[in-house]
Amino acid sequence: MHRVVLVVGTRPNMVKAAPLWRILQRHREQFDTYLVDTGQHYDYGLSGIFFDQLGLPSPYACLGVDAGTSIEQIAGMMVELEKVFLELQPHLVAVFGDVNSALAGALVAARMRISIAHVEAGLRSFDYDMPEEINRILIDRVADHLFVSEPSGQANLAREGVDATKLCYCGNIMIDSLVHARAESRKSLILDELRLEPKKYAVLTLHRPSNVDDPAILASLVQTAVQIGSTVPVIFPCHPRTRKGLPQFTGVDNAVGGPLRIIEPLGYVDFLRLQSDALFVLTDSGGVQEETTYLQVPCVTLRRNTERPVTVEVGSNVLAGTDPQAILAAVRSIMEGRQKIGRIPDLWDGRTAERVVQYLSRVLS
Ligand code: UD1
Ligand code: UDP
Repeated sequence: MHRVVLVVGTRPNMVKAAPLWRILQRHREQFDTYLVDTGQHYDYGLSGIFFDQLGLPSPYACLGVDAGTSIEQIAGMMVELEKVFLELQPHLVAVFGDVNSALAGALVAARMRISIAHVEAGLRSFDYDMPEEINRILIDRVADHLFVSEPSGQANLAREGVDATKLCYCGNIMIDSLVHARAESRKSLILDELRLEPKKYAVLTLHRPSNVDDPAILASLVQTAVQIGSTVPVIFPCHPRTRKGLPQFTGVDNAVGGPLRIIEPLGYVDFLRLQSDALFVLTDSGGVQEETTYLQVPCVTLRRNTERPVTVEVGSNVLAGTDPQAILAAVRSIMEGRQKIGRIPDLWDGRTAERVVQYLSRVLS
């Protein structure tokens, strides 16, 4: 019996961990699985609703680490995770993506000589100003099993000298959640609630520090969204980090029929419906770039780079950066019917977690 701990903490972590949890539960004779929530995200709208909608159980432990600075956050999580790992003595710790919770889990497991699985390994933006890039590199350095979601991940790890026997190209686990929730999302009433019609609105999400912590950049992005909104209304479910910088824009809050509608973050099922029926999506999110590629909904990414190049090379994503003219030009192409639809990358098929568990069954036995 292998004792496995899944470490989660943020909204995208829940989306990535839920499929793995589900498949590990099907193999209870082999895996004794525990979920640990660092509490990095703590609002119900960013955390609890994802547990509920994705079928995750109450965690074995919720660490409730106070935010503080990013370093205090990582350090606090590490102190608490050591206690949990000492108690549970896991054989394997699985971490997801590039968030601080994943780094904390990987560093503690590495020092305790516990095997580490990194789900979504090998992605690189080559932009060290992103905290996530540093997290990704550090996690991959200490991970024992690296589960790769797209071809660039494999190439990056090979270039960094990671032993190929540690890699498993298994596809994109976020898409497992999407496929699983698709039918439920079709029942969502969010379009009615927001009085929207399919393909007659756009969606915006923003939360990268480089876009939202600098008031001038945030103001420019919001003004550009308002400009786009004069042609097609823009719905903006707003991350709390971004909300902090928005008081000067409260005038545009929630105006039905207005150009930019700033609303609370949505739960997974409603947001999936909103994305699926959007004319296009504007975002700086990693996961949303991937989900729009799967949904074949045009995506304009408000960043200069992406650690998920398959979404541009194969999928529906274009990188516009933050220059208003470049964003407006990308939107114009879509409005004129020159949108990019792309195709779905290999192994983004809803069965990634099965492949992860098959691989783990083989290597851990
Ligand atoms: C984190 C991840 C980012 C990921 C994002 C997903 C890191 C370094 N960043 O960014 O990679 O894309 O989650 O959404 O791990 N806050 C609340 N309520 C909450 C959570 C946060 O109000 O439930 C506020 C707090 O003021 C907090 C700020 O948002 O200080 C930032 O939260 P934090 O978890 O540090 O980073 P995110 O920006 O959410
Ligand atoms: N998401 C959501 N509601 C929202 C915004 C995003 O359910 O209001 C989902 C989205 O579908 C994806 C995940 O949250 O599954 C992405 O998280 P986020 O953009 O916060 O983080 P990133 O992927 O950039 O790390």
